[in-house]
Amino acid sequence: MELIGRNEPCWCGSGQKYKKCHLAFDEKLEEYRRKGCVVPSHHIIKTPEQIEGIRQSAKINIAVLDYVAQHIRAGITTAEIDRWVFEQTTQAGGIPAPLNYQGFPNSVCTSVNDQVCHGIPSEEDVLKEGDIINVDVSTIYHGFYSDSSRMFCIGEVSPEKKRLVEVTKECVQLGLEQVKPWGFLGDMSQAVYDHAVKNGYSVVHEIGGHGIGLEFHEDPWVGYIFKKGTEMLLVPGMVFTIEPMINMGTHEIFVDDDNGWTVYTDDRQPSAQWEIQVLVTETGYEVLCW
Ligand code: MF3
Ligand code: CO
Repeated sequence: MELIGRNEPCWCGSGQKYKKCHLAFDEKLEEYRRKGCVVPSHHIIKTPEQIEGIRQSAKINIAVLDYVAQHIRAGITTAEIDRWVFEQTTQAGGIPAPLNYQGFPNSVCTSVNDQVCHGIPSEEDVLKEGDIINVDVSTIYHGFYSDSSRMFCIGEVSPEKKRLVEVTKECVQLGLEQVKPWGFLGDMSQAVYDHAVKNGYSVVHEIGGHGIGLEFHEDPWVGYIFKKGTEMLLVPGMVFTIEPMINMGTHEIFVDDDNGWTVYTDDRQPSAQWEIQVLVTETGYEVLCW
């Protein structure tokens, strides 16, 4: 922790003296740390200006997903979705965050049926009636990052798949309702996990959400197999994603050897995922994009 004089400017950039601004906050954090809690470091706590920048980025992300929602249908390829995302994002002044991210070749991840996440759009993959697909869109705008994903049911989908998609959305909503300042990330995780398991589904262990805002992936890592009261303490100004992957069968997964990206369920049964980006506020949460 930085040592700041009481009369020096606060680390948060408010321009106020430390003693009038975050001193009491830091003392409270220190108490939690002494008790053995994982506490956030200052650099992942966003300033009001940064939050506004992230909001603008998130607006583009939402608009791009809205565009996809209006146009997605049986008969199109996932490469077509990739072109929509590239065009809509760049026309709005943004950059698709996945493009060239650690070598990812496209502007969006499209994960169909037994693909858990990080599906690569392709001219070969034609959407057909009965498919479920996750479209995961991430935007950089003036250096600020946003990230959210939605599920789409293509035409008439089996009741089993439809229920998986709906329950996964409920998991995110129930997790979200646990987000509050001075609560714990694990409160959210357990709500997600319990609802999935109660419905007969499994939760992917190895892949999760993340802090986000000034970079694509920041601390904390956001898993969904943690217990209430554990994991990082939540404080106002933190921004992270809730994006559980819920499987119909086994939680076990594997990564496609050929492309090094696409994640599949081990038993090739369907998987669903919704992703929202959340700000911790003074009183609870604000959903920045969905
Ligand atoms: N949007 C994904 C996430 O939620 C990021 C995937 S990295 C990519 O974290 F390169 F595959 F896009
Ligand atoms: Co994400």
